[in-house]
Amino acid sequence: MQTLHTIPDFRRAHAALAGSLGLVPTMGYLHEGHLTLVRRAKEENDHVAVSIFVNPTQFGPAEDLAAYPRDLDRDLALLRKAGVDLVFNPSPAEMYPPGQESMIDTGSVSQPLEGQRRPGHFRGVATVVAKLFNIAQAQRAYFGAKDAQQVRVIQRMARDLDVPTAIIVVPTVREPDGLAMSSRNVYLTPPERIAARCLSRGLRLAEAGYAGGERSADALREVVRQTIAAEPLVTVDYISLADSETLAELEGPLTRAALLSLAVRIGKARLIDNVTLGE
Ligand code: PAJ
Repeated sequence: MQTLHTIPDFRRAHAALAGSLGLVPTMGYLHEGHLTLVRRAKEENDHVAVSIFVNPTQFGPAEDLAAYPRDLDRDLALLRKAGVDLVFNPSPAEMYPPGQESMIDTGSVSQPLEGQRRPGHFRGVATVVAKLFNIAQAQRAYFGAKDAQQVRVIQRMARDLDVPTAIIVVPTVREPDGLAMSSRNVYLTPPERIAARCLSRGLRLAEAGYAGGERSADALREVVRQTIAAEPLVTVDYISLADSETLAELEGPLTRAALLSLAVRIGKARLIDNVTLGE
């Protein structure tokens, strides 16, 4: 495994490899969710590259950029064991040299939900992912369904800008008690960690309701809201049932695939989760 810190070094290392490349973009502090993406990339490509870059442009001024958990040595050991070929670990100055001003705006899909609460977040995500795509020149790139709106933003960017890299979406990996794996779960104290079970529990109850024939958007959102309201440590940021493609909020009866998603605050952590109804 080679770890490269500059764009020319990465390009040289990639050029020396024959065959297809799968790219897994990450911000590091790797967990089983990230490693599932890596394994899928290994299955489908001759070589795998993982980027580790805590991207400053996707963090708002009041967000956790400085506190974001990092452990490069541990990450590199995990990736070596997973059989990764190339790790791209650039500095902020390598990715954003002085004078870099171009940013990618993906329009309506980046407006609601996370986009509304985190102004500029998806502009930062779309820009860094486009840069990583151009640097890596991979045949395929792997993203987790856990970040559902991020997936839509990247798919829109790739389609609108004629990106040749195929976008592969991998199902959410969960802890045994249902909590979606996230680098930010380390912010939770033990009681908060237990309270956090209500996220996946609420989503599962709504899924069960949907499977039992419930189609009212209000009723399905309400199932999640009530489950979370039972946990005093958890504050709801939003609970949304939206068109799976456009992310426009749904009213009335569901007629096609819908994304049920939520964001909450628990102590220092802001956590998101989602399920798709009617795939
Ligand atoms: P990060 O949060 O490190 O996540 C990297 C990738 O792992 C993303 O595609 C994310 O959706 C996926 N992932 C995280 N938790 C997962 C889980 N429990 N199950 C399945 N996949 C999971 O997302 C980012 O970084 C950044 O925004 C990035 C795309 C790298 C751009 O900076």
